[in-house]
Amino acid sequence: MRIGVFDSGVGGKAVALKLQQLLPNADIMSVDDHVHVPYGDRTPDDIIELTKAAIQPLLAAKCDAIVIACNTATTVAIAALRATYPSVNFIGIEPMVKPAASATKSGIIAVLATPRTLQSDRYNELKRTWAKDSTVIEPDCSDWAKLIEDGHSSQIHVEATVVNLLQQKVDVIVLGCTHYHMIKERILDAAGDTVTVLEPTDAIANRIKSLLS
Ligand code: DGL
Repeated sequence: MRIGVFDSGVGGKAVALKLQQLLPNADIMSVDDHVHVPYGDRTPDDIIELTKAAIQPLLAAKCDAIVIACNTATTVAIAALRATYPSVNFIGIEPMVKPAASATKSGIIAVLATPRTLQSDRYNELKRTWAKDSTVIEPDCSDWAKLIEDGHSSQIHVEATVVNLLQQKVDVIVLGCTHYHMIKERILDAAGDTVTVLEPTDAIANRIKSLLS
């Protein structure tokens, strides 16, 4: 099977690498849109148009499924993509609000995501539906994706951000941007073992398996 993976930038590589390990027989084809990173600061119309343009090679390659490995593009553009290309299997990646709300014991979760994801209707619907009994903290990560894309992730104050979340009694942290998968180890180290850090790659691999079996 051929699986297409799209992200604005390096977040897609983190997802594609892990999908390849989980689905060793799959032919994984990745595309990105490095010149237009960060998507997280753009308008919804811009994100829809840029995503449609960037996935053309995946459509031309007749992928069995296309993973939109970008929370920003999924929350903003996946409905438009499905409407424009109804015969394509799109699999989106969006912040894991539901699993976080079921896992938390303190009732306080954190979602790390881009400004556009946090503003999106879809993300706010997820919060209303699944996290109405939880407190959701959304720290300012607005420059993280660009710094990671440009290889400057050492400038991100990951540890200070996580320590601040721990002080607020957060016990589940959701990586709601695939770029942050690249700094997952730092987040895990800072969070310690009493905190759960969620990202969706395993769930996406299972979804691909069931969709294509
Ligand atoms: N990797 C993308 C995400 O999951 C966003 C990065 C960007 O802002 O371009 O949201």
